[in-house]
Amino acid sequence: MVLRNKMQAIPLTHLPTLEHLEVRGRRVLLRVDFNDGGAAEGASAIPHRLEASLPTLQWLLERGARVGILTHRGRPQGRVVPSLSTAPLAAALSPLVGQPIGFVPDCIGRVAQQAMADLAPGAAVMLENTRFHLGEQLNQAPFVAQLAQVGEMLVNDAFACAHRTQASTNGLAALLPTALGRQFVQELRWLEQWRTAPAPRAMLVGGNAVLPKLELLQHCLSGTAKAEILLLGGVVGQTFLAAKDLHLRQSLIEFGAVESARSLLAEAGVLGCRVHLPRDFVVADRATPGLVAGVRKPHQLEPNETAQDLGPQTVAVWERILQDTPSVLWFGSVGVWQQAAFRAGLEALAKALLARQRRQPGVVLLAGNGLLQALTAGGLAAPLAAAGIALSTGGGALQQALTSHSLPGVQAVARPAKP
Ligand code: 3PG
Repeated sequence: MVLRNKMQAIPLTHLPTLEHLEVRGRRVLLRVDFNDGGAAEGASAIPHRLEASLPTLQWLLERGARVGILTHRGRPQGRVVPSLSTAPLAAALSPLVGQPIGFVPDCIGRVAQQAMADLAPGAAVMLENTRFHLGEQLNQAPFVAQLAQVGEMLVNDAFACAHRTQASTNGLAALLPTALGRQFVQELRWLEQWRTAPAPRAMLVGGNAVLPKLELLQHCLSGTAKAEILLLGGVVGQTFLAAKDLHLRQSLIEFGAVESARSLLAEAGVLGCRVHLPRDFVVADRATPGLVAGVRKPHQLEPNETAQDLGPQTVAVWERILQDTPSVLWFGSVGVWQQAAFRAGLEALAKALLARQRRQPGVVLLAGNGLLQALTAGGLAAPLAAAGIALSTGGGALQQALTSHSLPGVQAVARPAKP
C-alpha cells in the first residue's frame, strides 16, 4: 500500500484561539460538527458531540456574543431533506446549555440575517443544515459570501469535519476573523500527545468500515501512527480472521478488504508488530437475534451463528494488554453494543482502561462515533474523561490526522484572515 506523504502538523502556536476574538455584542458564527450521519436516533447518536460543544458555546454566551450555530447533518447533496434538519439538534442542545436555543430555517439569506440581527447578547440560535446548499460541500464563493453576511466572525469548533474542505469551515475562514474553539484545540493537543506517546503503543481498532481503516493500520506498521501492538475487533477483526482462512459463518466480513488484510498481517510479522485477533466470540443464532447462543472459538461457529461480541478469553487477554501498555489508542467499537446481551466486551475493556488510568496515567485516546455513543450510553464516558482519558469527537478527521498530519480545516485557519 502506498502511504500518503507525511506533512508536518501546524504548531498550535500558529493557530488562532478564542482569546484572539473580541466577541461582546458581536454576531459570531459557531461552526460545530453535530453530524449524526442522518441516523434515525438523531441527537442521541451524538451525545458526545453535543457535550463537546459546550465549553466554547458557553464561553461565547458568557461574554455576550450573539451566536449562530452552524453544522451539517448527513449528505443531502444540496437538497432540502426534512429528515436532515437541524431543528431536533437545537431542541436537544437547549437543556444542555440551560437556555433555549431557537431554530432558524436557513443558514443564509434574509431569514438568517434577520434572526442574527434580532438576537440579544448572550443568546444563540441553531441555523439550518449547511449542506442543504450545494455551495457548502463545494466550498463555492457565492455561498461563502452569503454566509459571511450572517455573522461578523467565525469560531470553528468542528474538528470532526476538519478533513473536509467546506464553505463554513474553510471558505468562511478566509473572509471573517476566525478562531478555533476549545474542543478543536483540545483535539489537536491530544493528537500531539499521541504522536509523542511513549512506547510500546497499543492500537485497538474496531468498528464496521474496514477498507477506510486499512490505511490507518498500514501507518501503524510503518508510518506516522506507529503502534507496536494491534488489537483488531469488530468487523475489522472478523475480516482479519477471514484473511487467516477462519470463516465465521454468518458473521459480518468485509470481503473486499480480505486480500489487503492478508498482506498487512504478513507485513506486521516482518516488522515485528504484534497483532491480536479475537480468540473467541459471544455468538447469536440468526433465528434468535439478541440472545446469547454461546461462546465459540473462531473455527467453532455453527452454520447459523454470527459473532456478536468478544468472548471472555479475548477480553481477559486484551484487558491485560490495555492495562500494561503505556499508550493506547482505541478507534471504533467492538461488539453489537446496541443490544444489552452483547456490550459486555466493550464495557469490560473500557473499565480496564479506566482502572489503569486511575492507577497509572498514560496517554489514552478513544475515538469513533459508535464507541463514544456506546460509552456515553453505558455511563462510562464521564468517568473516563474525568480520569484524563481523551474522548475524541473525530472519526475520519482523526484518521486523516494520524495518517497524513494534514487537515484542511486546520490549514484554513492558519492563514491570516483578509482585512
Ligand atoms: C463526520 O461525522 O465524521 C464528519 O462530519 C464528516 O462527515 P461526512 O463524511 O459526511 O463529510
